[in-house]
Amino acid sequence: MTSVSLPGGVLLRPMVVGDAAALLDAYLSSREHLRPFEPVRPASFWTLAGQQARLDTMVAETAQGRQLACVMLRDGRVLGCATLNTIVRGPFCSADLGYWVVHSEVGRGLASAAAAALCRIADQEMGLHRIQASTNPDNLASQRVLAKNGFEQFGTARNYLHINGRWRDAHLFQRILNDRPPDGR
Ligand SMILES: CC(C)(COP(=O)(O)OP(=O)(O)OC[C@H]1O[C@@H](n2cnc3c(N)ncnc32)[C@H](O)[C@@H]1OP(=O)(O)O)[C@@H](O)C(=O)NCCC(=O)NCCS
Repeated sequence: MTSVSLPGGVLLRPMVVGDAAALLDAYLSSREHLRPFEPVRPASFWTLAGQQARLDTMVAETAQGRQLACVMLRDGRVLGCATLNTIVRGPFCSADLGYWVVHSEVGRGLASAAAAALCRIADQEMGLHRIQASTNPDNLASQRVLAKNGFEQFGTARNYLHINGRWRDAHLFQRILNDRPPDGR
């Protein structure tokens, strides 16, 4: 994937190993904002070494085609992330979409534009058939991002993810990208 322009002069591009310090700054700036929607992070997550180790894994898995992990950037600052995880080929041709935006930049269309870009790339560059996403039932902003991008809710799963300290239900969404047969990858 090449870089994609998002609203407000923001760029979406795949993460690189040099992004660790900017990623850490972004997470630290938005710790309380993200807390209700994230797993409890180990202490190492909030260190440069921890972010570097995590990033090295994501960059390696992106190179292997197992995920596509991207940052939203402006002037060298990370403003959010958008990722296709758990890329499965064969008859499924599916991936999980995730995203977050730093507290100071919410409401400016970044998550919606990043989700649109990753859906297009999944369809036209990666040959996927379907994207799945899940949200806390009370995460209305995230559900709006998905609705604007043509996702449909197909269920609610009980005790689906361990988020902010306990097992929580999730609404499940999917978007069918195309009706092409699997491309044999
Ligand atoms: C959810 C999140 C990614 C949205 O990012 P964003 O860049 O602000 O999203 P956008 O600006 O593209 O779109 C947000 C939409 O939700 C709407 N919205 C915001 N809060 C809302 C609320 N409480 N109820 C209903 N709609 C709401 C906005 O009005 C906007 O819709 P619109 O364009 O029709 O006006 C961001 O708030 C975030 O990072 N939250 C914490 C992490 C998170 O929830 N990640 C997703 C986990 S599934």
